[in-house]
Amino acid sequence: MTKPRTGIKVRTGTNSRILGVGAYQPERIVPNSEVIEKIDSSDEWIRQRTGIETRHFAAADESVLDMAEAACRQALMRAKVSMEQIDTVILASITYPFQAPSAATALIARLGNPKAAAFDINAACAGFCYGVGMANDFVRAGTSQHVLVVGVEKLSDFLDPYDRGTAFIFADGAGAVVIGPSDEPGIGPTIWGADADSRDAILMEPSWNAFRHGAPEGVWPNISQKGQTVFRWAVFSMSKAGLRTLEAAGVTPDQLDAFIPHQANVRIIESMAREMKLPESVVIARDIRTSGNTSAASVPIAMSALLTEHPELHGGLALLIGYGAGLVYAGQVVQLPPKP
Ligand code: UT7
Repeated sequence: MTKPRTGIKVRTGTNSRILGVGAYQPERIVPNSEVIEKIDSSDEWIRQRTGIETRHFAAADESVLDMAEAACRQALMRAKVSMEQIDTVILASITYPFQAPSAATALIARLGNPKAAAFDINAACAGFCYGVGMANDFVRAGTSQHVLVVGVEKLSDFLDPYDRGTAFIFADGAGAVVIGPSDEPGIGPTIWGADADSRDAILMEPSWNAFRHGAPEGVWPNISQKGQTVFRWAVFSMSKAGLRTLEAAGVTPDQLDAFIPHQANVRIIESMAREMKLPESVVIARDIRTSGNTSAASVPIAMSALLTEHPELHGGLALLIGYGAGLVYAGQVVQLPPKP
């Protein structure tokens, strides 16, 4: 008797969408005037070259998990989904200081569903959009019904305050979405990829500069970047990736309601919008002004802020795109969550 080679049962899922978004930013607001104390810079230069006016830094005893938990609780509440209904948690971060067990497993224990599937991903500033892509596929394939995707960073722990190329850019915070079943497709195809020949453009490695200035152990990693290299790559490649994302979703620029890109530099945001010929009617997230660059958390924090500022955008179409160390990127067109 021959054994059957097929006959494996498979699941099929449903359309999916974002059901709710939440964000958390630490209480402490840090103005440019504080950051420039240790670098040769000025408030005016930082505003002009990046758009950043203030950012949030977490308290010494405030962890990645504390921030992720707060953002997730808000997302769950707004989505009207209980933690018991969440079967999968994807946590994107480059600043959780432990390899194992994952931040995601610590998070599900805190949120009260320690039996959910949970894992961390590292796709740097693209981590949240990588997570949204996976969550969408999980729901569509029937692997999961409700997925919590959280991007969270405590970059202040990994900043060299004397580094003129990063000290004024990066910041702390968390943003989360609940992704679940939907009657209509609410998340378009994910366009993602890498440019791994530019792996050295953004690094998180021990910094000799910080060592010289007296970092306690001298081996603690700091984030560093070749600013101009990343800037040129983002302006040139990310608008093209954005256009491919729109095309894959069958959405034209004039059908978009909002553009919510990674918040790395307001000049990159403006240039992408110009290159993609987004009409005036598209509301553009420029949350970097008051949030800085929060890496994996920047897109959901910007989404939450945009919906607070423009409640009419609930249910509208938004183009998301994240990019960062690797270099890696991911984008998708999403229907913004309904009004809570
Ligand atoms: O999330 C990860 C993705 N990261 C990014 O997307 C970062 C992309 N890059 C950038 O946002 C920009 O490259 C920076 C904001 C990091 C730097 O701005 P830039 O316009 O590329 O500056 P630059 O390195 O080309 O330097 C221009 C000038 C130089 O002076 P001179 O030679 O023209 O006299 C620098 O010495 O600005 C000077 N400069 C500064 N001045 C005041 C460089 N850094 C500073 C500073 N403060 N911190």
